[in-house]
Amino acid sequence: MANAVQIRDIPQFVGQEVLLQGWVYSRTDKGRLQFLQVRDGTGFVQCVVFKKEVEPRVFESVQALTQESSVVITGVVRQDERAPGVPGGYELGVSDVRVVQISEEYPIQPKEHGIDFLMDNRHLWLRSQRQWAILQVRATVMRAIRDWLDGHGFINMDTPILTPAACEGTTTLFETDYFGEPAYLAQSGQLYNEANIYAFGRVYCFGPTFRAEKSKTRRHLTEFWMVEPEAAFCDLDQLMEIEEQFVSHIVHTCLSERASELAILERDTSQLERVAPPFPRISYDEALERLAAIRARSEDENVREQLQIEWGDDFGSPHETELTRQFDKPVFVYGYPSRAKAFYMEPWPGRPEISKSVDLLAPEGYGEIVGGSERISDPELLVRRLVEWNLPQEAFEWYLDLRRYGSVPHSGFGLGVERTVTWICGIDHLRETIAFPRTLKRVYP
Ligand code: 4AD
Ligand code: MG
Repeated sequence: MANAVQIRDIPQFVGQEVLLQGWVYSRTDKGRLQFLQVRDGTGFVQCVVFKKEVEPRVFESVQALTQESSVVITGVVRQDERAPGVPGGYELGVSDVRVVQISEEYPIQPKEHGIDFLMDNRHLWLRSQRQWAILQVRATVMRAIRDWLDGHGFINMDTPILTPAACEGTTTLFETDYFGEPAYLAQSGQLYNEANIYAFGRVYCFGPTFRAEKSKTRRHLTEFWMVEPEAAFCDLDQLMEIEEQFVSHIVHTCLSERASELAILERDTSQLERVAPPFPRISYDEALERLAAIRARSEDENVREQLQIEWGDDFGSPHETELTRQFDKPVFVYGYPSRAKAFYMEPWPGRPEISKSVDLLAPEGYGEIVGGSERISDPELLVRRLVEWNLPQEAFEWYLDLRRYGSVPHSGFGLGVERTVTWICGIDHLRETIAFPRTLKRVYP
């Protein structure tokens, strides 16, 4: 019997007989010829069944194959430039087919379905080529993140998911009953990372984070994955240098390793090729001036309305979208008003109303993918902030300790995996970038 091979490895087997184990993605009946698109999780390949090259019972069983039937196929790998598939340019001349199961009528047909239907069938929708391509890119993003950080002296430290206090504002906390006391699902691992840097210097945590986001947007999930590097003896400028190296590495890893997936998604990769340090840096104040100029130029009432913003407010999606359209690379916006951001951010020297914060906005209208800052290192200032933000000091005593014993300037950031994958894939909505998205209206399947 031939060796079982994976479709992604097929180019190495030209001229040889192989065995594929997978599912029928589609079947085209041309009488004496049957074309099967077969997928096995690693790729898609066309399998050609010619009546006179297989036993009659095999040909009959092929004629009965429905979409998503599971099969074991034997055949010889041929190179053919026109053959569709991933990797492209190869097909299988079939000699035998063993049917594992004839699938029942599959709910997802090669036609347009509504998004609610697809989301209800997310467990099946994952098999579609487009979803497969997006999630392959995601897996590469995850690995590129770890590779870069591990290779640059950051140690992976896991931070808790059940936590006693808020990190990113009390309005989006998910509360759980922790043996009669409230505990909250982590919004961020940052505060624990700040403890970890005093033991390890440079660290990162990487895991799911939870926010009870009540807004229904294409940029928000209630459960999303975030990687959060944190570094001791690091200021805001150094942080931006780390971010631009890091993000460029992620993008270029996808370009080199996921070219065929990006092609399936019809991504214009020339936009991504440009992503290289240095990224432009503008202040919040300058961003506001640019937005005012865009408003003044716009003849569209809606645009003028949407772009309205007072000094002191954080940006919404429309502001970020317009700003990023002015740059052909990701752009840093730094120096946000302190009251628009979290309690732990270091004030700007000489301008306490703004913070040493920085967001990285992805181009082509995508907007914020990274949020970060220098952290307050002075214990007294931090206590004042807890009071101003109405946060319970008891819950933060351990965090205050970090400022009491060898405090140093330090900084960190959080990169949202789903927003990054949405941008790299060039798609509209981040719900497709995680296998089972959790949103305001959805915890099924
Ligand atoms: O800007 P955020 O809220 O920053 C923090 O959580 C900091 N504690 C990070 C740090 O400095 N260690 O979130 C960081 C990133 C955002 O830029 C965005 O990419 C993503 O996390 N994010 C979300 N992604 C999907 N759905 C949501 N509801 C998200 N909220 C934030
Ligand atoms: Mg943010």
